[in-house]
Amino acid sequence: MALVPMKEILDAAERGNYGVPALNINEMLQLQAYLNAAFERKSPVILQASMGSRKFTGWLSKEAENPDLGAAVTIGMIKTFIEQYRAVYGYDVPVSITLDHGPDFKQCKGAIDNGFPSVMIDASLDYGRKDDKGKHPARTLDENIKVTREVVEYAHKRGVSVEGELGTLGGVEDETQAASVHLTDPDEVERFVKETGVDALAVAIGTSHGAYKFPGAAKLALDLVPKIHAKAGTCRLVMHGSSSVPANLVALVDRYPVVCLDNGVLGVTGFFNPEAKKPETRRYTTTNPWDMARLGSDLAFFSCLKKSSGVPMEAIREAIKGGVRKINVDTDGRLGTTGAIRKFMAEKPDEFDQRKYFEAARKALYEMAVEKMVGFGSAGKV
Ligand code: G3H
Ligand code: 13P
Ligand code: ZN
Repeated sequence: MALVPMKEILDAAERGNYGVPALNINEMLQLQAYLNAAFERKSPVILQASMGSRKFTGWLSKEAENPDLGAAVTIGMIKTFIEQYRAVYGYDVPVSITLDHGPDFKQCKGAIDNGFPSVMIDASLDYGRKDDKGKHPARTLDENIKVTREVVEYAHKRGVSVEGELGTLGGVEDETQAASVHLTDPDEVERFVKETGVDALAVAIGTSHGAYKFPGAAKLALDLVPKIHAKAGTCRLVMHGSSSVPANLVALVDRYPVVCLDNGVLGVTGFFNPEAKKPETRRYTTTNPWDMARLGSDLAFFSCLKKSSGVPMEAIREAIKGGVRKINVDTDGRLGTTGAIRKFMAEKPDEFDQRKYFEAARKALYEMAVEKMVGFGSAGKV
């Protein structure tokens, strides 16, 4: 059981009424952290690689990034780790990997042909088009069904699970920006599931990608989950944009800003007032007392990240009770990695062995994964 189709993991979660973390990977630290957490905690886990991840792992020094190479490298790396961990631990845990937000048939096929046991086709958006603000327009239900069904037909013949999406999420990630947000309409679910044959369905209930989800407390349409669940039959529900953006991780990043000291001029980049849309750089001459006084008052409202909140664990547990089985988390791992590396570098400025700060990042990723496995109820389910 090196890698299993996502459907196997999600069907077991449905029977056991728990959620499974779906964690994005781009490199080896995340893979080591998440697989160790899964083996340690005897938890099933779903890994995810986006198009951005496939391009990153498919890097070639002299050619454009190659997403198919990235898919093959990712699969090879995961299989190798699983094989070794299985020997060390003396037991197996179910691990799947899925293409996250596959934009079209071609890229889903590329992932499948290179060994992915699961893919997501995100035909709720038209990734081939952008509006004047650079965002992807939503597809009609008929178009979404047509594109999704084509992927399902190819995938199912090869034993590969498919996730579709109905409704659109908000978000700030490069490749997944929607022009507008539409919550999932429970009345469309039965037709979508029946006509596409998808194994899993991403629902839009007010979550969005990235660290800036809600300006204040989270507002989610959790009441939609049991209504969608009732119409979804054997198709399993997925919640994207489910990072909690924990205040302690945001505070950690803010506590260790990176400054630049160049010939007696201190450069500080970040948000100097909460209304600012983008970070700005301010410079202070260290020998000028007025500049130093200005630095002091500028830092009163300084932050590295914009203020925001994510999806609280209680809301996710409520969604799991209503029938959500796959919970997508990427941002919390990014925040943990960044916070751990910044803290390490600030506290040990003379350390330049990269393994030292990568280890700190890996530990943060491992702890995040364990917390999700325990919180979603998948820990101990193997
Ligand atoms: O859904 C978005 C995931 O966080 C992946 O993000 O496209 O930057 O890899 P990415
Ligand atoms: P977050 O940005 O909330 O981590 O969501 C990740 C996601 O939905 C990946 O598909
Ligand atoms: Zn997503």
